[in-house]
Amino acid sequence: MMFSIFVILFNLPFTHTNYESRIAVTPVGYEFQLRYSIQLLVSTTAQTIITCSATCNQLSSCRTFDFDSVSKRCRLFEADTTTTGSIIVSSSSTSRVGTVQISSDLYSSTHNQPCTLCEMDRYETCSANTSTCQCPKNSYWDGSVCALQLFQNNTCKQQNACRSDLNLTCAQDCSGIFTKCVPASIINATQTSAGYGVTFVGTCSGSSVVNQTILTGQAGITMSPNGMLYVADGANRVVLYSQSNRVGTTVQSYGSWPAFLFYDNRTSLLYVTVIQLNLVYIYPTNNTIPPNGISYDNCSLKWLYRPSGIVVDSTGNVYISSYMCHWITKWTPNATTGILIAGSATGTLGSTSTTMSSSMNMALDEANSVIYVADRFNNRVQRFSLNGLGVGVTVAGGNGIGSAPNQLSQPTDVYLSKSKTVLYIADYANSRIQKWVINASMGTTIAGSASGIAGSSAYLLNGAYALTVDPTETYLYASDLNNNRIQRFFFL
Ligand SMILES: *[C@@H]1O[C@H](CO)[C@@H](O)[C@H](O)[C@H]1NC(C)=O
Ligand SMILES: *[C@@H]1O[C@H](CO)[C@@H](O)[C@H](O)[C@H]1NC(C)=O
Ligand SMILES: *[C@@H]1O[C@H](CO)[C@@H](O)[C@H](O)[C@H]1NC(C)=O
Ligand SMILES: *[C@@H]1O[C@H](CO)[C@@H](O)[C@H](O)[C@H]1NC(C)=O
Ligand SMILES: *[C@@H]1O[C@H](CO)[C@@H](O)[C@H](O)[C@H]1NC(C)=O
Ligand SMILES: *[C@@H]1O[C@H](CO)[C@@H](O)[C@H](O)[C@H]1NC(C)=O
Ligand SMILES: *[C@@H]1O[C@H](CO)[C@@H](O)[C@H](O)[C@H]1NC(C)=O
Ligand SMILES: *[C@@H]1O[C@H](CO)[C@@H](O)[C@H](O)[C@H]1NC(C)=O
Ligand SMILES: *[C@@H]1O[C@H](CO)[C@@H](O)[C@H](O)[C@H]1NC(C)=O
Ligand SMILES: *[C@@H]1O[C@H](CO)[C@@H](O)[C@H](O)[C@H]1NC(C)=O
Repeated sequence: MMFSIFVILFNLPFTHTNYESRIAVTPVGYEFQLRYSIQLLVSTTAQTIITCSATCNQLSSCRTFDFDSVSKRCRLFEADTTTTGSIIVSSSSTSRVGTVQISSDLYSSTHNQPCTLCEMDRYETCSANTSTCQCPKNSYWDGSVCALQLFQNNTCKQQNACRSDLNLTCAQDCSGIFTKCVPASIINATQTSAGYGVTFVGTCSGSSVVNQTILTGQAGITMSPNGMLYVADGANRVVLYSQSNRVGTTVQSYGSWPAFLFYDNRTSLLYVTVIQLNLVYIYPTNNTIPPNGISYDNCSLKWLYRPSGIVVDSTGNVYISSYMCHWITKWTPNATTGILIAGSATGTLGSTSTTMSSSMNMALDEANSVIYVADRFNNRVQRFSLNGLGVGVTVAGGNGIGSAPNQLSQPTDVYLSKSKTVLYIADYANSRIQKWVINASMGTTIAGSASGIAGSSAYLLNGAYALTVDPTETYLYASDLNNNRIQRFFFL
């Protein structure tokens, strides 16, 4: 119903400034219609609209009232028109509706501030837990004001937006997008638990269409310190996703498919191995490694032959593994030739401590001068010293191909925890992510099936090709290659 509301706007004068409210009042002939009976706080009588609004004002949960100047009825509501109530035409021509005007400036000086700043405030209360000013009961901080919590089936946008006193919670769909308020008891308890993957990019079912929301056989992923996710997509492009926008933007396209990515937070450069072109491209400068852009299909320290994994250290040295030369080479800034760090000097494969079989992505531990590498077809993760002596130690797997806890099957990516004590391994052909404490004799599965079963449900992966972890180590993202999707799990 359309009508021009709010002819009167007044400030209620009270001793304490913070207890004043700006109240907007409709013309006569309107009343407030609540949707849920518990939104009615008080139904009383008052002499004038000013005394009715003053009563509302003294009750911090009162957001709306209506007053009839003949019957003297004064009703106070914990409700507003933006959530679950409405202003309707009244059968009484002497009824008006008053609404407390809420705006961000009312909260800017108090929210999250010491309690002394909201002692006499009607908008925020002191949280005993934190001794700071927080939203009162039945409301939540929406980023600028304390908004009233919502009721069952209302559309919600954040976890705490629903009436917690009624045991409601904001449900999420399979992509982790908030949907509506539902009883907490019907939420799949597992959705927020270990092992449940939220589809961060792509379709939940794993179907593929090449556009900005959907990937096709994507490989490496990496995240910048501000939470931007870069994806090396099989459609010969790098696509960028923010935490808030699941529609990506193509950063750069290449003449072939990019394999792994490394975001260098020191220089804000993105390093991309374009495997079939035998080159590393640096975004956005378009510089390449080798710098002359020359490519040959043979194993020479002067070139890259099927570069796969990539990491950059704090001084700009780039470590690149080769899928075909089974080694890791180090390229100092602008070098025209690499230095052998690990693997056979002739580029031949092997399964000894000095050889590898298709070296994939790596994790660098500069403090301890070591590098971890997924040694794909040896089904193990090796650790090499950066001094170039090239004798590796097996830190995970190495017990033959398989899905037992002490085995891996074609590992392709590895993440080293900030504590430098735990490896997270993309156990590609087992379609699982393994957590392996350094020096432990076996790992545990934190995503996918522990027995190596592939699938497309929220609990399964199909080809766990790569992984990255957000800067706060809250979430782990897995590149679920054959499902054309990026799944997000709790980092445990
Ligand atoms: C205060 O802390 C307790 C225990 O940690 C928690 O259960 C409760 O929800 C907290 N209350 C608020 C208002 O944050
Ligand atoms: C919420 O929606 C569901 C399904 O649409 C319906 O069964 C249920 O009755 C609704 N509940 C309320 C309180 O509106
Ligand atoms: C909410 O859940 C708690 C704990 O299970 C229960 O004690 C309480 O009665 C529930 N409240 C409502 C309104 O359902
Ligand atoms: C709840 O979990 C089961 C697996 O236990 C899954 O099949 C189902 O789709 C899940 N439901 C929702 C709404 O996520
Ligand atoms: C991508 O394709 C899917 C399936 O056709 C479609 O639902 C989605 O809206 C598309 N996204 C964009 C950004 O075009
Ligand atoms: C950049 O990365 C390094 C190494 O991972 C880390 O120590 C540093 O804290 C990061 N800087 C930022 C701003 O995230
Ligand atoms: C890099 O290459 C892309 C694509 O060819 C081009 O659009 C861009 O301008 C180049 N950037 C620089 C810094 O040369
Ligand atoms: C690698 O290829 C280049 C160019 O074809 C050739 O000059 C060189 O001899 C080759 N090296 C090896 C070890 O095959
Ligand atoms: C590498 O080359 C670029 C472009 O020529 C130049 O800007 C940069 O200073 C060089 N870096 C080093 C360490 O020489
Ligand atoms: C692993 O074992 C070695 C040798 O005992 C020890 O020096 C190292 O500190 C251990 N590392 C971790 C992370 O426990």
